[in-house]
Amino acid sequence: MKTDFHCHVLPEFDDGAKSIDESIAILKEQKQQGFDTVVATSHFYRNKETYEQFVLRRQKAYHKLESAVSGLDIPDIVLGAEVLFYSSIIDDEVDGLCISGTKFLLLEMPFYSLSKPELNLLIDFIESTEYKIIFAHIERYSKLYDKELYESVLSFDNALYQVNCDSFGDRVLRKVALKLIKQGRVHIIGTDAHNMTSRPPLYNDAAAIINKKLGSEYLDAFHMRGEAVLADKSISKILSI
Ligand SMILES: [Fe+2]
Repeated sequence: MKTDFHCHVLPEFDDGAKSIDESIAILKEQKQQGFDTVVATSHFYRNKETYEQFVLRRQKAYHKLESAVSGLDIPDIVLGAEVLFYSSIIDDEVDGLCISGTKFLLLEMPFYSLSKPELNLLIDFIESTEYKIIFAHIERYSKLYDKELYESVLSFDNALYQVNCDSFGDRVLRKVALKLIKQGRVHIIGTDAHNMTSRPPLYNDAAAIINKKLGSEYLDAFHMRGEAVLADKSISKILSI
């Protein structure tokens, strides 16, 4: 079973699909690319809305989409969120932001270099949280963080790391992503698709590169771990796959 663990497919919700038609086009393309399930990881920015507002708004967007896709041959949609790290997350109960039916939370890091206190907050959070953290598109921070900070963020042994398919179209990010995959430091894959124009689902392109450069067993492992995530298995169990 293949799951896209990162996409912005809900209509008129964030910077992803701008209409139901665009959502459907993305979902059809994901189906074409072999996905059985997609996790709708809409952006959650705590500085813009509360947890309750997000969950309500997301439910409405999902309902709109759900009635429009009835009978279409598209992947199953599972609700989730892409949560931008914020300093008080450690105090919050955010079950509704997790991948539905699990305790897995897709966490996005800021696109600026973290200060030492911010890094310490992140470390406290990762070490104490009841949630099972998946770091989103970990390869992207290699361009933004210095080596020491990047290594710190990459070094949690009780978290998972996700790679973006569209990064394989960038020479530098492709190199980083392939290296991390080979080192066993990336565990699942997502398209991070936002639309059908500038950021479409690019799984097939990424898969062809991974197959050619590393071998198909790495993709198989992504999908096996993905099944384990949806089954809410423990991080240690998933890391052993
Ligand atoms: Fe995203």
